[in-house]
Amino acid sequence: MSTHGRRVGLNRPFFLGCRGKPAFARGQRAMSSLGISVEDRDGVRHVVLDRPDKKNALTVAMYAAMADAVASAAGDDVGALLIRGRGDTFTGGNDLRDFLDQPPHGDDAPVFRFLTGLATTDVPVVAAVRGAAVGIGTTMLLHCDVVYAAPTAKFKVPFVDLGLVPEAASSVLLPRRIGRARAGAALYLGEAINAGQAFADGIVTKVVPDEELDAVAELAARMIALKPRAAVRATKRLLTYDRDVVLAAIARETVAFRERLASAEARSAMSSFFERAGRSAT
Ligand code: COA
Repeated sequence: MSTHGRRVGLNRPFFLGCRGKPAFARGQRAMSSLGISVEDRDGVRHVVLDRPDKKNALTVAMYAAMADAVASAAGDDVGALLIRGRGDTFTGGNDLRDFLDQPPHGDDAPVFRFLTGLATTDVPVVAAVRGAAVGIGTTMLLHCDVVYAAPTAKFKVPFVDLGLVPEAASSVLLPRRIGRARAGAALYLGEAINAGQAFADGIVTKVVPDEELDAVAELAARMIALKPRAAVRATKRLLTYDRDVVLAAIARETVAFRERLASAEARSAMSSFFERAGRSAT
């Protein structure tokens, strides 16, 4: 089948390693050890946060795979990106053990590559969210174009509680999206935003029943992928006309975030997560 001169319906499951190169042979099933599976299907690049035993908490390796999946999408002529999590949680946010043991340093750290790629890609991004979307789990959605949420979705940005500061340009995008006063409650008080409120706030496109979430999100991504591609990409560039503002915010936040990560305040707050009853130390 061909649409707008492109092949669609290609099934290309692979697992991304470094710099967009498939780390495993074409056709091989995605492995869950890295925590991200990537599959191209019907013009859509499916990016699945695939570490359900740890609530899809994002490791350095996972960011690297996500950064590569986003960066190579334009070159690979992908019509839409679809991000979702496996299991009952979108993501518990950055892996806190990673924050303690291998905090991001250089500007080419995988998390920054992922964020700048997401903020500047011309490929529309659809997201499907069920359960908790913590930290970057919420802030990455501010860069997505269409977001579906199950009624269980819960959006939380507890950076201050962890001794940290907002990231992913959320210091600019969150107040812009939901207003300064509500962003204040989310950031300073750590108040969660439920699915209905997120819809009212314009963070979410639509709340759909849990059992329909994946199909609804996939259909939307496939529909976008079938549209005239140059028009889609030009529209995305117009909608994200202020990329320089967003990148400047990310750069500002990154300086503060790195300082905070090294602070005793943050290290103590993050360590205490693992001291809670029933949680393993790794
Ligand atoms: N980093 C590392 N491990 C994490 C994690 C994270 N961000 N989020 C969850 N996990 C791990 C837990 O340590 C636990 O591992 P264990 O079974 O080996 O002990 C496992 O995932 C399940 O987590 P648990 O807290 O028992 O599940 P829950 O359903 O009660 O709660 C969350 C899910 C996501 C709400 C909760 O885990 C949470 O708040 N996580 C941390 C969020 C956070 O502060 N993220 C950083 C934002 S910058």
